[in-house]
Formats: sequence, structure tokens, C-alpha cells
Amino acid sequence: MNIISQVKLENFRTHDKFKLELKNPTTLIIGENGSGKTSLIEALYVSIQGKSFRSRDEDILKKGRKHYKVSTVFSDGRKNQMEYRAETGKKQFTVDDKTYARLPLKNRYPVVLFEPDDLNLLYNSPARRRDWLNRLISSIDEGYHKSLLRYEKALSQRNNVLKSDFYREHDIFAWNVILAEYGSHILTRRKELVSFINSGLQPIYQSIAENSDQTGVLYKSDSVTESDYLKKLTANLEKDKVLGQTTYGPHRDDVEFNFNGELAVNTASRGEIRTIVLSLKFIEAGLIQQELGINPIILLDDIFSELDNTRQHHLTNGFKNHQVIITSVNPPGEMSEDVRL
Ligand SMILES: Nc1ncnc2c1ncn2[C@@H]1O[C@H](COP(=O)(O)OP(=O)(O)OP(=O)(O)O)[C@@H](O)[C@H]1O
Ligand SMILES: [Mg+2]
Repeated sequence: MNIISQVKLENFRTHDKFKLELKNPTTLIIGENGSGKTSLIEALYVSIQGKSFRSRDEDILKKGRKHYKVSTVFSDGRKNQMEYRAETGKKQFTVDDKTYARLPLKNRYPVVLFEPDDLNLLYNSPARRRDWLNRLISSIDEGYHKSLLRYEKALSQRNNVLKSDFYREHDIFAWNVILAEYGSHILTRRKELVSFINSGLQPIYQSIAENSDQTGVLYKSDSVTESDYLKKLTANLEKDKVLGQTTYGPHRDDVEFNFNGELAVNTASRGEIRTIVLSLKFIEAGLIQQELGINPIILLDDIFSELDNTRQHHLTNGFKNHQVIITSVNPPGEMSEDVRL
């Protein structure tokens, strides 16, 4: 198994200079609050995905310093380095002696991140769930990512036109056509993905929870085909003008989780919701493996304290074929610590 075997940080948040050798596929990192656990997870993520999951480079740069740097070495010999300089506000990636301004897609290493806030996925806003879907599909489908960027750009242009006092009908129509094209692509991919997740959710949930509760997931949308999409945008035009925004499209959709025939957030317990989210992480890892042919690296930031022993056990055993990097304030039951921050 190819694993990250070394990571070095320089001026990365609280870390001044920090080096970690990873010998085994599973590494448990223990440290108190504020000791730099999430920062380390973030640094690993930045180096293999090209950008942070939580903030901007200016926030990452250790206060008072001029540059930050993360270097990783894989067990197959691949080397990856990124450096950010405050002076230019730019990053530079070096992969096996070649330099890039952005980390090329082919050099990104797949990852599944599980952090405490993920446990709120079902309670958060629809925007958070759309974001989750978008990230997941983008990680396996570059075309989806492109459609999404184009859709978002067209959407904001259309909304600007709607807000202006004078415009020509054909300006709106031009944006409608673009929204229909990319919007229907987005819809199709999202529906496919949600139905894939749905087919895995029940069996995985039951194997973790060891009971017969029923759970599933549904993509919520008045979705239509590309040609109907245009009609829908046209039909909504008066309403959109009044509101100054586009009221129809995948930017309004949601994902709904159910539990024993009811909405999960209304009936399932906190622990049951956590189990649904845990199941999603397994499905995510399986999907990435299936689509990209690589077992993603699993980064588990401080989530053990939120799970009972049985679920902790499932988590450590369920990712046997992956490199797993775990952080925690206290060592979880069955495991012994590898690193203390
Ligand atoms: N740019 C920065 N420069 C210096 N210190 C920073 C910077 N950004 C964050 N910090 C500090 O780094 C420390 C480590 O933060 P981090 O989130 O990694 O801690 P943690 O070990 O995950 O803590 P917790 O257990 O509370 O989640 C915090 O004290 C934070 O205030
Ligand atoms: Mg943390």
C-alpha cells in the first residue's frame, strides 16, 4: 500500500518546524486542545489536495512569518512540496522536481476527511449538503467541477441582470440557455450519486448499528430535462424579477435523509445520525476507490470522542486497506498512541 511516509511543516499555524515519520498504515496522534492536531490534518490535506478545507493561506501562515511550507514523501518515493509566500500571495507546488502554480489534478491524492462538523451534516443548512455533494462529485469527476463553476458564474450574471432596471429579454435568455445546459448536467450527476449512496446506505448502516432500522437518502428537486429546464426558467421569470434572483435550479436543491419512514432529523437520535454520517464516509471511500482505482487516505480529526466503542471499532476496522491518520485528545479505547503533540 502506498502511504504518506513523512510530512514536514514550516510556519503552518501553530507549528514552527514539525516533522513526522509515518511507518504504519494507521497513525494515532494525541494532543491537547490547541496543540495543533487539526492544523496537522489540514497540512496533509493541503499538500495532497492543493488547498485547505477550512481557510485561506493568510490564516494558515504562522503569525509574523513570511512563508509556510508543507513537504510530504510517499512510500513509493513520490515527493510533494508546497510553499506559500505572503509577499506574492501565491503558492508554488513542486512535484518530483516540476513546479506548478496549482496542484495538477493528476497529482492530487484522493482523501476522505472526517471532522466533528461532518456529524452535523444532516442538521446543517441545505447549502452545506449541496456543498458536500459538490465536493464529493468533483473529486471523482472533473467535468462536474467545470460545469459547477460555469453554472455558478452564469447564475450570478443572470441575477445581476435581474437586479438591473433595464435589460433586454435576450440577455436573460442567453443566461437561461447556459444555466439549462450546465444545470441539467449538475442535476443528472447529483441524482446518480445520491442513488448510488442510497443503495449502499442501508446495508452499511445495518452492519454498523447491528439492528434493523431503515435508512435512506433522497435528492430533493423539481428536476426536469434540459428542454423543460428552459421552460421552467422562462415560467419563473416574473417571480425572479421581483425577487432579483433565480429561484429555480440545483442551487436550491437539497438532500433528504430518512429514518424508519420519517425525516431523520425529526426522529433519529444523535447517535443514529452519527451512524448515518459514518456510513456515508465508508460509501465515499468505496466510491473513490471504485472511480479512481486508489484507496483514499482517511483523515479522522477528533471524532472518536463523539462515537461509542462499537462505532470506534467499526471505524478503525472498516478502513483496513487505507492509510488512516487519526487525531484525538485522549487515546481511544483499543488503540495506542503513535505521536504526542
Ligand atoms: N496562523 C496562525 N498562527 C499561529 N497560530 C495559529 C494560527 N492559526 C491558528 N493558530 C493556533 O494554533 C493552535 C492549534 O490549532 P488547532 O486547530 O490545530 O488545534 P487542535 O489541536 O486541533 O485543537 P482542538 O483539540 O481544540 O481541536 C491554536 O491555538 C490556534 O489558535
Ligand atoms: Mg482540532
